[in-house]
Amino acid sequence: MAFPQSFLDELVSRCDIVDVVGSYVQLTRKGANLFGLCPFHSEKTGSFSVAPDKQIYYCFGCKKGGGVVNFIMEEENLTFPDAVRFLAKRAGMEVPEEEGDREAGLLRQRLLELNRDAARFYHQLLQQPQGQAVREYLERRQIRWNTAVKFGMGASPDAWDVLLDEMTSRGYAKSELLAAGLIVDNKRGGFYDKFRNRLMLPVIDTRGDVVAFGSRVLDKSEPKYMNSSETPVYSKRRVLYGLNLAKKTKRPNIILCEGNLDIVTLHQAGFDNAVASMGTALTVEQTRLLSRFTKELVLCYDNDNAGKVATERALQILNNSEFSVKVLQLPRRRTADGELVKQDADDFIKNQGPGAFERLLDGSENGVEFRMAQIAGKYDLSDDKSKVAYCEEICTFLATISSVSERNIYTVRAAEIASIPKESLEYDISIILKKQRRQEYKKDIHKALNPTIELQPKDRKMRIEDTLSARAELGIIRLLTLDDGLFKSDFPLNANMFSYPLYSKVFSFLWAEHLSGRRPQISLIAENLTQDEMSFLVSALQSDNKRFEANREIMLSDYIHVIQTAHKKRLISDGSIDPLAAAIEKNKNKKNTGGKLHG
Ligand code: UTP
Ligand code: MN
Repeated sequence: MAFPQSFLDELVSRCDIVDVVGSYVQLTRKGANLFGLCPFHSEKTGSFSVAPDKQIYYCFGCKKGGGVVNFIMEEENLTFPDAVRFLAKRAGMEVPEEEGDREAGLLRQRLLELNRDAARFYHQLLQQPQGQAVREYLERRQIRWNTAVKFGMGASPDAWDVLLDEMTSRGYAKSELLAAGLIVDNKRGGFYDKFRNRLMLPVIDTRGDVVAFGSRVLDKSEPKYMNSSETPVYSKRRVLYGLNLAKKTKRPNIILCEGNLDIVTLHQAGFDNAVASMGTALTVEQTRLLSRFTKELVLCYDNDNAGKVATERALQILNNSEFSVKVLQLPRRRTADGELVKQDADDFIKNQGPGAFERLLDGSENGVEFRMAQIAGKYDLSDDKSKVAYCEEICTFLATISSVSERNIYTVRAAEIASIPKESLEYDISIILKKQRRQEYKKDIHKALNPTIELQPKDRKMRIEDTLSARAELGIIRLLTLDDGLFKSDFPLNANMFSYPLYSKVFSFLWAEHLSGRRPQISLIAENLTQDEMSFLVSALQSDNKRFEANREIMLSDYIHVIQTAHKKRLISDGSIDPLAAAIEKNKNKKNTGGKLHG
């Protein structure tokens, strides 16, 4: 939904970037700016900066930057609207929702409060005598207390109405408890608690809201797991258990498992990147959710038939997606009687330890083999023509393996599969790698020599005027955010005259803000730019030349001149202006020459 601009203005002005960032990062002042350790990449010296005057942050290391909303989007892994709601909550502001949504919004909010209260209550019970059986169960499963706390675990007592009584005494209506799926209608006019004598596992979404509960029995009775049904705040297709924690992982991928307690064990063992789809097949909605946090998924389903089917299904969904996918196959375990039995991640970690799991995870072996089999499967290798196509594709793939020894091993295997000499594959791969290296080198040099070159749209021929114009456009944007009092009502530029589309977009937004009497701020543009564009813009503003800070008026008129000149040249070369007519026009203004030309 679109928030009213006035609301966003108010929000941004109430959420000072130094305060907000300061609650995540320890900042020290150096001159006008503040510095600290970047929360977005690992580092030992602080390259992360916050500029209070522009209300932006920028990391010189990983080049991420933006305003206060961007920071929350990055740090809390939220979408723009969710980051806005997050900040609003922090600032104690009410978020204006659209009229139609209002009632539904109120119910949702109420159910979320109820869920949270219920989760807290179950958690308290876990620490009381009623929680004894569940505490013993946790012990049997080797779940440590701090892990239980991290996951907000609780105990539902062996009784029919403990939650019902407690929550109604706190003012929640039965209808609300019913809507949240916490109680059940006995069809005789009465109600009873849905979850009884179970380990309670609150399902927390990426915003930190308790949207549902999973629960496990403490013995061998059925059903083993009982989960909340769908409610106005819970759609199981859209949630992954553990993602509220896994979204903050520093590991490069996310591990997908089947079971809730697999996740608990994995996190406890240091794999804080594990999530579970809670017994259902992976959905498209879940993959979309995951794509906000990672580009690499590791499928770690049970090594039994059901698990293989789940893996196949997940791979189908992920086929041609932006993710790179690995399959981590857990080995079966031989029992004392020599029988081979399946292990899930939880069993495996308990039997073999975290180190062994780390090795399985590292061994991208599975992933490579899996991909190679996928590629080989596409071609009929008895046919020469498709063999050539196979070689091309397999070489492109092998070239992506960065470890040389690993690449060599798989090159040999790929050659064997197609019964061709490995040397021919090696040669093709070396060509691909050389080409890649050349391109990278060129790009680096290019960037180093002229940081604004890449600003130019690809379909337009780059002119020196456009590069200069782009720099001036950036300067205009900077001045506008620093001191919009400089900009009079007869300001001669408009966004169409800008050479660089991103700057044009930014300018038109800031200009509209200026015209409506508000202070133009970079922080407010978050919604209109992608995170990459935002980081680029902030990076550019950061490196912009500030030497002549004192002469803002002069700078402004220089910028205007540069942009006008480039704009005119563009119009001429587009054919929008006839160069002769333009020259006449220009000369007409100079005394004495106009007549001659007309002559
Ligand atoms: P599993 O049957 O593989 O159990 O179900 P598990 O995760 O290994 O459970 P433990 O280790 O015995 O505790 C995998 C997942 O499927 C869902 C649950 O989310 C479970 O974690 N499930 C399973 C249900 O929703 N209902 C069930 O009755 C069983
Ligand atoms: Mn298990």
